[in-house]
Amino acid sequence: MSHVPADRGHLARPDDAGGTPAVQGSSFVVAIDGPAASGKGTLARRLAEHFGFAHLDTGKLYRATAFLVLDDGGDPADPDAAEAAACRVTPALLADPELLSERVANASSVVAAIPGVRAALLAFQRAFAATPPPPAGGAVLDGRDIGTAVCPDAAVKLFVTASPEARAARRVKELRQRGAAAIYDDVLQDMKERDARDSLRQVAPLAAAADAVTIDTTTLDADQAFETASDLIARALAGRR
Ligand code: C5P
Repeated sequence: MSHVPADRGHLARPDDAGGTPAVQGSSFVVAIDGPAASGKGTLARRLAEHFGFAHLDTGKLYRATAFLVLDDGGDPADPDAAEAAACRVTPALLADPELLSERVANASSVVAAIPGVRAALLAFQRAFAATPPPPAGGAVLDGRDIGTAVCPDAAVKLFVTASPEARAARRVKELRQRGAAAIYDDVLQDMKERDARDSLRQVAPLAAAADAVTIDTTTLDADQAFETASDLIARALAGRR
């Protein structure tokens, strides 16, 4: 199922939202939150594919913002530069492989702590959830604040987590598979710093929604996580009919 509309225009601006309500109309929304390398991205993609829903990896929006700031030689902590970059993010940029680098990952959690950046990216996420690209009848969004802030009325909310050590080991494997050099201790340290920035920021911090079901993937494999999540979604869908 497609991730984002294929147009080259900018994402919807905050002004376009017209106070977009936090309801998702008739679209069935699955909100998946969790820290880096918890397995939420893989799970989100598989669930979207299985149920015929559209998928949005919202981390890409923050990564694209960080990438644009770095590309201009700017400071990701500079609110003016970061907000201007958030307004320049295009759907096409979300597919750039450069967004997957550790440099961009680390800068993304710096721009993500800036309220104006989050505001600039909110309307696009809510619009995607409310009106997923046809023919999808639902949407899976994964990130840090989907169940708590972006889609508080989502039909199913999952919080996918794992120990920092398990997540760092996964990230090292992933980086090496892409041909990038990766030292476990450095990756673990960066991940802990990013977790702290994401969890301790003032606006929309990484947190499980009160009504989220937690899936700990430290000892679960991808198939077991998928079984647990797809059962929950199937039951919620059945309850809607
Ligand atoms: O999920 P991913 O690792 O690609 O996210 C990159 C960064 O984007 C996160 O560390 C976080 O700071 C930010 N993010 C966020 N809210 C989201 C998704 C990602 O703040 N919904």
